[in-house]
Amino acid sequence: MLRDKNNLVRNYVASIPFDWRLYRQDIRGSIAHAKMLAKQEIIADSDAQAIIDGLSSIRQEIEQREFQFKPELEDIHMNIEARLFEKIGDVAGKLHTARSRNDQVALDLRLFVKQEILSAGDGLKALQHSLAELAEPNKDVIMPGYTHLQQAQPILLAHHLLAYFEMFQRDKERFYDCLKHTDILPLGSGALAGVPYPIDRQFVAQELGFNKVSANSLDAVSDRDFVIEFESSAALTMMHLSRLAEEIILWSSAEFGFIEIDKSYTTGSSIMPQKKNPDIAELARGKTGRVYGNLMAILTTMKALPLAYNRDMQEDKEGLFDTVDTLHSSLKVFAEMVKTIKVNTNGIHDAIKRDYMLATDLADYLVRKGLPFREAHGVTAKLSEYAITKDRNFRELSLDEYHSFSPLFDQDVYNITLESSVASRNSIGGTSPQQVAAALTRAKRLLENEGGKQTS
Ligand code: ARG
Repeated sequence: MLRDKNNLVRNYVASIPFDWRLYRQDIRGSIAHAKMLAKQEIIADSDAQAIIDGLSSIRQEIEQREFQFKPELEDIHMNIEARLFEKIGDVAGKLHTARSRNDQVALDLRLFVKQEILSAGDGLKALQHSLAELAEPNKDVIMPGYTHLQQAQPILLAHHLLAYFEMFQRDKERFYDCLKHTDILPLGSGALAGVPYPIDRQFVAQELGFNKVSANSLDAVSDRDFVIEFESSAALTMMHLSRLAEEIILWSSAEFGFIEIDKSYTTGSSIMPQKKNPDIAELARGKTGRVYGNLMAILTTMKALPLAYNRDMQEDKEGLFDTVDTLHSSLKVFAEMVKTIKVNTNGIHDAIKRDYMLATDLADYLVRKGLPFREAHGVTAKLSEYAITKDRNFRELSLDEYHSFSPLFDQDVYNITLESSVASRNSIGGTSPQQVAAALTRAKRLLENEGGKQTS
């Protein structure tokens, strides 16, 4: 708590400009604590009731924007407590029995992260849903598959979209994995050493829906691993989103012309009327940097901090809030934008007019005729060079021309098409229509089974 009223210092130490966001968690935690104090006969039932009523009405004041946050009271905890004194008098002072701001802030943050884990999962689910919806009607669209951003082998567009479905599935699992280390009650650890009152931590854990209580009070007040785990899951998700963003940007360019995103998700240019800039995708790509930055910041803040609580840790919040906001808005806007994507089959068709992506299939053809793969690869490399120099498709070469590269080529070489190429890749997880249809069914079933997680 501040000892003087020096404005410069007051503003420097105040966290209320940002930690007011924890008011709901703070009040919820305090109500559970008050109940426990009464149950354990540490305070009188009537005092606990006065405290609980006071806290509930403070929550209302905040929600109705009638509450005045004061920087001289530093943080959300002190702001609420001071208001409680104004409302119910000295009884308010009993709430902080067997508690410290150190275990209080750790509790608030855990409650906050728990809720954000679930809503990150919901955001990811919505985006996965949009991706599956876009994949469904494009089950038969063949497009170039790339490596090194060079056309490599033909694939189904739905297969490409479902690759992102997988990434976001892992992201979701990663967020839910964070629950394991977040869902632990720190309250009852006191300032650092525990508290000298007969408290019931299990009761508080149950009241607040925590899975367990922390095992070591020093660790409980100084642990921010759960924040780091959350932010690192968010960083990974944003990395995936930035890859999708990049492809949306590329694919909607005139050079690719594979897709069109709805006007409402693009901006025009004041001087170039033809432009439809994919700003949303660009911004998500850009915001990824911020989310990485926040992760680096919290890792660096926590580095080499001696046990237990240090004021440095107040710096955990702004980055976390920024990451939460960036992640949620990015997932939301992407889920909506993806729904508006129109696939331009003509554009995709133009990109696969040349059939050089069938080179691997020609090599596989020779393998089936008995040639070792490495040799077959050599033959088709020369054949490709020949076709590209002559500016002709494989399908336009005569059998004689084929024979000049290998006698193993036969009339059935003309059966190799983009369609046959895609259909042949029927190994589990491959791009064949059969595999992709199964993947789509699986994806939809998965979303249905997961349902909506409860965001309390
Ligand atoms: N505002 C502080 C924070 O966010 C709350 C804990 C303060 N504890 C203390 N002993 N100064 O970290």
